[in-house]
This record gives sequence, structure tokens and C-alpha cells, in this order.
Amino acid sequence: MLKIDNLHAAYGGIKALRGVSIEVKPGECVAVLGANGAGKSTLLKIISAVMKPVSGSITFCDRKIPSFPYLVVQCGIVHVPEGRQIFPNLTVYENLMVGAFLRNDKNGINQDLEWVYTLFPRLKERQHQYGGLLSGGEQQMLAISRGLMAHPKLLLLDEPSLGLAPIIVNQIFEILKEINKSGTAILIVEQNAYKALSVADRGYIMATGVIEKSGTSKELLSDEKLLKAYLGD
Ligand SMILES: Nc1ncnc2c1ncn2[C@@H]1O[C@H](COP(=O)(O)OP(=O)(O)OP(=O)(O)O)[C@@H](O)[C@H]1O
Ligand SMILES: [Mg+2]
Repeated sequence: MLKIDNLHAAYGGIKALRGVSIEVKPGECVAVLGANGAGKSTLLKIISAVMKPVSGSITFCDRKIPSFPYLVVQCGIVHVPEGRQIFPNLTVYENLMVGAFLRNDKNGINQDLEWVYTLFPRLKERQHQYGGLLSGGEQQMLAISRGLMAHPKLLLLDEPSLGLAPIIVNQIFEILKEINKSGTAILIVEQNAYKALSVADRGYIMATGVIEKSGTSKELLSDEKLLKAYLGD
């Protein structure tokens, strides 16, 4: 479904990605794990066309990925960014509708709205409150739901566990499993390897812009030394 081949990226002289190749098959949940500064966010920014690569190819459903972010959304890829980036001065409902901005299928939009309210009942309860008044966990739920409102085939998630209490992280990851089971493919980047591999089918380990290892979640989880070497405790 998503194929990335030999991707290179840089910020001026800083090489952030050096020959990254990964793929996501239809319906899969794939994790890219890496410590601070590994290049995880850079990878997602390039997929969603908010940043240009130096070289390399990306195809989605056998077609070259478009070079503008809104076209990437239109072809079925949605990016839930690091740090949530919800709109604090819009209500929960308005934030969700921003996610559906490129759609005009009213019935489909209403169905997806009901779906995200079923996944995250807290959002329904708080639908008329400003996004900025939500807790960190609720804002993460809102960011994921805003992404779902575009009805993606592939959801890109940048560190959804960041800064959240373990109990909230567990809740969110249970729902990510449900979203994936419903047929939406997921590419998740995380520092929290154990959590990410608990939902992912497969994973890649990235260090300083290079993919060092890949394997099924089971294989990676059983190699404690490897996880410690690249990701710490
Ligand atoms: N705007 C920028 N300008 C210059 N260098 C940058 C910029 N953004 C990222 N970098 C550098 O690129 C490399 C990869 O950064 P990136 O944000 O992709 O890592 P990450 O794996 O997402 O890290 P984190 O876990 O901290 O979010 C790092 O060396 C980082 O310092
Ligand atoms: Mg990052």
C-alpha cells in the first residue's frame, strides 16, 4: 500500500534520513521505533508532503505520492502530528469538522462523526467545549479523531503516547487496535516501543536516520537487548 524506497532528507547540512526503505501493506499496523532525533517525525512529514525529501521514492496504492499536503489527504493518508496540534480556539466539534474539510459526502461525514464519538465518548460529552480546555489525553483523542474524520485508508500517528499518563496511553492504544481492526492501516512512530509493538503487526527500528532492524512485533519484543541498545530502558 505504502512503499518508501531509499529516502534521504536533510535540514540544511543535517542529514535526518539516510536511505530509509519501509512498507505498509493494506490493513497492517506498522511501528517505526526510535529514540529522540532518530528521524521519525521527519519520515512522517515527508510522507504527508509538508517537507520535501532530498531523494527517494514514495508510492501509495502503486501511484507516486502527491507533492501537496491536501492532495495527500485526498488520496487517503492522514497525519496526526506530534504534540497533537489541535485548534485551541475551536470547539471539539469544530476541530472534528476541520478533519472533514475536503469531503462533501454529508452522510459519510455524519457516520464518521458518530463513529469517533463511539470510540471516544469523552469527545461527545465535551463536543461544545474549546479544544484548548481539554486535558492532554483528551486532546490526543481529538487529534486522532480529527484525522479519522478525513476517512483515511492510512493513518500516520506521531508519538500518540507522548506526555500522557500510562492509564490514558493504554486506553488510547486499545482504541488504535479497534481502528486498525476496522480496516484502517496505521503507521505509528513511537519512542514507547513496548506500547507500539503491542498494537503493531511489524516494526522497524530507526537510529540516526537509518533503519537498523525490522521484524514482526513478536520478534522485536523477544529481543530485549536490541530494544535496550536502540531505545534505552
Ligand atoms: N526544523 C529543524 N531544523 C533543523 N534540524 C532539525 C529540524 N527538525 C529536526 N531536525 C533534526 O533532524 C533529526 C531528526 O529529527 P526528527 O524530529 O525527525 O526526530 P524524531 O525521531 O521525531 O525525534 P523525537 O523523538 O524527539 O520527536 C534530528 O537530528 C533533529 O535535530
Ligand atoms: Mg518526533
